[in-house]
Amino acid sequence: MDEKQETRLAYEQYADVFEQKAASYLERYIKDDANQFLSLLPGRRVLDVGCGPGRDLEFFSRSGMAAVGVDNAQSMVDKCHGKGFRVYQMDLEHLTFEPDSFDGVWAYASLLHVPKCRFPSTLQEMMRVLDEEGIFYLGMKEGVGEVMKPSAGMGGQRRLFSFYSRQELETVLDQWCEILHFSSTVPASDDVFLNFLCRKKKVMTK
Ligand SMILES: C[S@@+](CC[C@H](N)C(=O)[O-])C[C@H]1O[C@@H](n2cnc3c(N)ncnc32)[C@H](O)[C@@H]1O
Repeated sequence: MDEKQETRLAYEQYADVFEQKAASYLERYIKDDANQFLSLLPGRRVLDVGCGPGRDLEFFSRSGMAAVGVDNAQSMVDKCHGKGFRVYQMDLEHLTFEPDSFDGVWAYASLLHVPKCRFPSTLQEMMRVLDEEGIFYLGMKEGVGEVMKPSAGMGGQRRLFSFYSRQELETVLDQWCEILHFSSTVPASDDVFLNFLCRKKKVMTK
């Protein structure tokens, strides 16, 4: 089993545990950023990449957005369907949407499960489905390197975590986006999230 399959299995098996643990995250830590994301959107089409059990889809739907989610764990997709959200089981590294399909792409704590060597191509995939001058929100974990590790409450099932410095993320983002706002959140003492609100750069035509 490769690292993506192992990570998927953890979420398949422990969707309930994750849902409980992360239920209040948006409200407690990133509500201001989420409101800013909404206020900057040029339209209503929002994609939540790695949407998990649908916490942020609920926020977007309540805010009047036409929100769509993708997640590769079927148990997460099922949870979202149970709540009435439009969600597809899909690998975020290979989205099947047409180019320019969304006004906003929201990727909270999901691209941190992509191996670092594939982060630039994954980011490019986010930009492909984002309309010109669309808004992108990214939440990643601060640190160095990448590791397969078990998490408390997930029965020893391992997940891949990729860690970054703020500078490292800014360098990659800068190729496609203008960074409009940065914030960091510390939900646990050993967990620092680096959050970027960005606008996709206009393609220059000659
Ligand atoms: C830490 S959870 C974050 C969930 C949600 N965004 C949140 O902030 O609560 C990561 C989510 O990304 C999903 N995920 C991880 N790798 C993925 C991939 N390659 N394609 C699609 N979803 C993926 C997991 O199944 C999980 O639901």
